[in-house]
Amino acid sequence: MAGPLDVLPVARGVGLPWDDEVGDAVVAVANARAVHGDSFVVRSGGDDHLFTFSPVGVESFYALPEDVASKGVADYLMLRRKLPDEVFAGRRVLPDALFRRDDVSSYLNHLSRALDATEAELGEAGTVELFALTRRLGHRLGLASWAGPGCADGDTFERLVRAFDVLDGAEAFVHPDAMAAVAAAGKASERQALDDVADVVAPVVRQMDSPGADVGGLFGRIVAAWATEPAPVRDRGVAMDVALIHIASMSNLMAALGWAVVDLVGHPDRARLVAAGDADLARRCALESTRLAQRSIMARSVLRTVAFDTGAGIVDVPPGWTIATLLPLLNTSAAPGLEAWDPDRWHHHRLADTSRLASPMLVTAFGHGRHTCPAQSFSLAAMSMALTRLLGNYELTPQWDRYPRPVPAQIGGVARSVDDSRVGYRRR
Ligand code: HEM
Repeated sequence: MAGPLDVLPVARGVGLPWDDEVGDAVVAVANARAVHGDSFVVRSGGDDHLFTFSPVGVESFYALPEDVASKGVADYLMLRRKLPDEVFAGRRVLPDALFRRDDVSSYLNHLSRALDATEAELGEAGTVELFALTRRLGHRLGLASWAGPGCADGDTFERLVRAFDVLDGAEAFVHPDAMAAVAAAGKASERQALDDVADVVAPVVRQMDSPGADVGGLFGRIVAAWATEPAPVRDRGVAMDVALIHIASMSNLMAALGWAVVDLVGHPDRARLVAAGDADLARRCALESTRLAQRSIMARSVLRTVAFDTGAGIVDVPPGWTIATLLPLLNTSAAPGLEAWDPDRWHHHRLADTSRLASPMLVTAFGHGRHTCPAQSFSLAAMSMALTRLLGNYELTPQWDRYPRPVPAQIGGVARSVDDSRVGYRRR
């Protein structure tokens, strides 16, 4: 049996940003690939990673069964760098339960109301930081969708926004270099923020006991899942389910919406069509901007030894290893022309022409195979609605003098901008 260390090159001196200062995390892995080829080992912080970028390697990656090489475990190992264990232990309604029949139309109704509130806050004219605007919109949409009545309004909303800004699990991959400080502080701020969420949500749960209370929607399902517990256990359990769902859900979507606006204000001809209501174009613009903004490390934690085909041969990858690929090293370079923004390359959710790709799996916005994002249709519908509303109702003037740059240390999710991305706006 040939293990990775027997047959693959080790990228010595290359660390991952949780463990080492690497500057630009994507560039560090790109440099390793330039030296070692499409499959190599990175040993970082005591953990072993097999990175693969070959067509066969990427296809083998997406085919890995969950019980052998787990995405769930890899996500947990990433997020627990930021979040206290309490938010993971004992959850009854998980983020993957978000997309039952009727859920999407209810979330889109909430989005429409969240956009009304955003427009009321914007007023007639002014300037606004685009990614801050979309982030606040995401909080409002999410909390209206699963945190119970009243949680997306007034002071209750502001308290939850403050708590969830501290609890942002995406920090684990957007600012991986900050995780040592989070650990050193014993996650004290995050624990306090979880208590704040529980303080806000508990009275909302108790309202559900009143006759005639609105117990529908996802929040109703969460309350029902805890109904048999004594009140203090129930209230805390519901709040922690809401917290994990909210932390896991909206941040990539709203970052992607920010990039879609950035790209559309840079393409006024397309922006005019979106503003006029071309929903199919809006969806393709959303997909295209998401593809280009992808910074995702796609990772699987090996649970049982797996024979993995890298394209240059089979290696037996032992438990404890992580098998990974990095979307930004594939999405814009796997075939000529992919570096440019072109919404016409998409037909529905797929690339219209894959003839120049060694494998169609080398490019993606929402993943391939069994773990493909269950929120893809919802996310594209939501981005399309928000783009149509914002571009249709406001004239936007970018105030940046160069295209915003991603946070360099980020390794995961959709890029966050390191630059202030302010737009001037005026209601049409
Ligand atoms: C533009 C927004 C989004 C993008 C670009 C995106 C991207 C992705 C990608 C690439 C994957 C596959 C990861 C892998 O194979 O390792 C994924 C999985 C997943 N996404 Fe999304 N996502 C977005 C929005 C959302 C939202 C809004 C939710 C929830 C409300 C969500 C929930 C999930 C879940 C639960 C999975 C795991 C599925 C599984 O393990 O089978 N995503 N997403």
